[in-house]
Amino acid sequence: MEEDFLELAVSMAREAGSLLIDGLGEKRDVSHKTGPADLVTQFDRASQNLIVDRVRESYPEHSILAEEEFGVEKSETKWIVDPLDGTTNYVYNYPLFGVSIAVEAEGKTVVGVVHIPVLDETFTAIKGEGAELNGEPISVSATDELSRSLLSTGFPYDQDLVPEAIDTFSRLVRKSRGIRRDGAAAPDLSFVAVGRYDGFWELGLSPWDVAAGSLIVEEAGGQVTDFSGERFDIYDSQGIVATNGENHQELLDKLS
Ligand code: IPD
Ligand code: CA
Ligand code: CA
Repeated sequence: MEEDFLELAVSMAREAGSLLIDGLGEKRDVSHKTGPADLVTQFDRASQNLIVDRVRESYPEHSILAEEEFGVEKSETKWIVDPLDGTTNYVYNYPLFGVSIAVEAEGKTVVGVVHIPVLDETFTAIKGEGAELNGEPISVSATDELSRSLLSTGFPYDQDLVPEAIDTFSRLVRKSRGIRRDGAAAPDLSFVAVGRYDGFWELGLSPWDVAAGSLIVEEAGGQVTDFSGERFDIYDSQGIVATNGENHQELLDKLS
């Protein structure tokens, strides 16, 4: 069953990725959602429509939770979709953006796919079966000290959370090898899974930003928790910390 979900998710993510690449050559109509920095374009919607239509065609009985105001609750099996993660990057032609699709069954994420069209990279995982990049097994880095870790983070759209995010950034930048701020949480998590980053943290993300990526990190041998080191819950946790596992506690200590 999971293999079938994965196959569909990969095929949809790649098709949506091509649509997004085509959109780079066209004018993007940008509108605002929760604030001036929270953007949406016609291509976020087109990508979402493509994915929602294909899920409905194959699994009409399944639930869907998708970012651009779309949700249906029908069954215990749910598709969690970010049709374009990194919309601000996309609007500015900054090439890091992705499509994120996860499948949840009985409350657990069982399949995750993050596709980064410009890199032609598809990160995948099935719960209990490891993680892959373009069909090849991947694993997290082995860096065990924070001082030798390359980290990544993001700043939340919610203005109330920004001061805390800046404080944390300023503390961590002195304790690590560097911090990247790439503007796309699903690719950030995928980069932890393949060892390009040793760790990532962010406050205030939504289930569609992290559902697929957090499974991919865990299946690549990494660790994902909230800021207190408790089990990460895509719906309830306020923040996410995803690392190679070796430097997890040290990062948690510095976050608090
Ligand atoms: C955003 C990106 C960004 C993160 C934001 C997310 P969107 O997703 O993942 O890196 O900092 O909090 O909302 O809006 O581009 O899909
Ligand atoms: Ca997103
Ligand atoms: Ca999005």
